[in-house]
Amino acid sequence: MPKTFSKRLPSTFFFLFALLFLSINLASAKSNGFSNTLSPKKLGLKREKLSHLHFYFHDIVSGRNPTAILAASAALTNKSETGFGAVVMVDDPLTEAPERNSKLVGKAQGLYASAAQHEVGLLMVMNFAFMEGKYNGSSLSLFGRNTVFSTVREMPIVGGSGLFRFARGYAQAKTHAYDFKTGDAVVEYNVYVFHY
Ligand SMILES: *[C@@H]1O[C@H](CO)[C@@H](O)[C@H](O)[C@H]1NC(C)=O
Ligand SMILES: *[C@@H]1O[C@H](CO)[C@@H](O)[C@H](O)[C@H]1NC(C)=O
Repeated sequence: MPKTFSKRLPSTFFFLFALLFLSINLASAKSNGFSNTLSPKKLGLKREKLSHLHFYFHDIVSGRNPTAILAASAALTNKSETGFGAVVMVDDPLTEAPERNSKLVGKAQGLYASAAQHEVGLLMVMNFAFMEGKYNGSSLSLFGRNTVFSTVREMPIVGGSGLFRFARGYAQAKTHAYDFKTGDAVVEYNVYVFHY
């Protein structure tokens, strides 16, 4: 067998095999209604843009109308220095300025839970449901780790809806005010997201 032939043979086979595989794949994509490939234009997606959102998050745990409530805890939670196991459900107002009565731009709805035993580290799973201007009805989904005593905490934005479809990015949270007596907190958020 000439050397060149023996060398070429495997790649020829590979090529034919790939062709076969590809045509089977294309045929199956055509023949079922479960999935197909779309051009972004078909969904009305034009150019991806980067947006910056700035607001204040009010975690109100005290008083007659708390917006953050303990929803679950474990038998050992109140023996833990970090409240490990506590799950708090929130419907926290998001405002334009640090004052609670400043313009409402949305709500943070979801939960935070104490997920660390040796430092205060929260698991944050929540949606920012916006109400302001063109963003009314659109939302961003945050999923991340929040070590609340760090100066700036960064958490991923993993998706969104409405104007924030296909969103991805990050949020930076910085405590603006914390009342040690009541436990109420005001947190400044800067959110950077790519979306269409
Ligand atoms: C911990 O919580 C349990 C049940 O809620 C309660 O009975 C107990 O007194 C608490 N312990 C402390 C140290 O607060
Ligand atoms: C946001 O949308 C809701 C439902 O469409 C509407 O009732 C509400 O007035 C809107 N709010 C603002 C601030 O535009």
